[in-house]
Amino acid sequence: MRDYSAFDRLLMQFDTAVRTVAGKPVATQRPYPAAEIEETELDATGRAHIAALMRVNHAGEVSAQALYQGQALTARNPALRDTLAEAAAEENDHLVWTENRIHELGDHTSRLNPLWYGGSFAIGALAGALGDKWNLGFLAETEHQVVAHLGEHLEQLPATDARSRAILQQMQVDEARHATTAIDHGATELPGLVKKLMQAMSKIMTRSAYRI
Ligand SMILES: [Fe+2]
Ligand SMILES: [Fe+2]
Repeated sequence: MRDYSAFDRLLMQFDTAVRTVAGKPVATQRPYPAAEIEETELDATGRAHIAALMRVNHAGEVSAQALYQGQALTARNPALRDTLAEAAAEENDHLVWTENRIHELGDHTSRLNPLWYGGSFAIGALAGALGDKWNLGFLAETEHQVVAHLGEHLEQLPATDARSRAILQQMQVDEARHATTAIDHGATELPGLVKKLMQAMSKIMTRSAYRI
């Protein structure tokens, strides 16, 4: 990746923020995992529940965009910035896929997305400012928690909804790889209390995004 100036990076970040929150992310690199899978018959309640689960996952991806942006802004090591940018491109795929699925189910993304973006950007920037090993530690823990969370959603999804399942399964594979990459780059294990705090915050987010 070429070496952008701080001002260039700030402009690119602003562009990403606006696109993410406005539901106009950049095009994806990879095909939609549900593309070749037939739609299943769902009643109104089932459809609303699945759409709400996907809304939660989409809100999580909005946060992921913001976290990665915040971290890339303050990360000191240029190689690490490139690694974060690569993972962020995959998070952008997730953002597009989950939004697609929500619209297929006739529903809307979370109205609170600007809030998730702003809060997550601040947390990411703080993690980045603490230094690369903490930054990566935070990233690895976030990804581990997302893998676990996606596992819970896969259990909740009806077995017949193969389209949603294909999306979440691919996301789970990617998130696990992001965690491994962070560990390979020297992530430090976070204190238990910080992990608990992160879980508590994601619970608040999960519950709100399910409804709003
Ligand atoms: Fe993701
Ligand atoms: Fe990830």
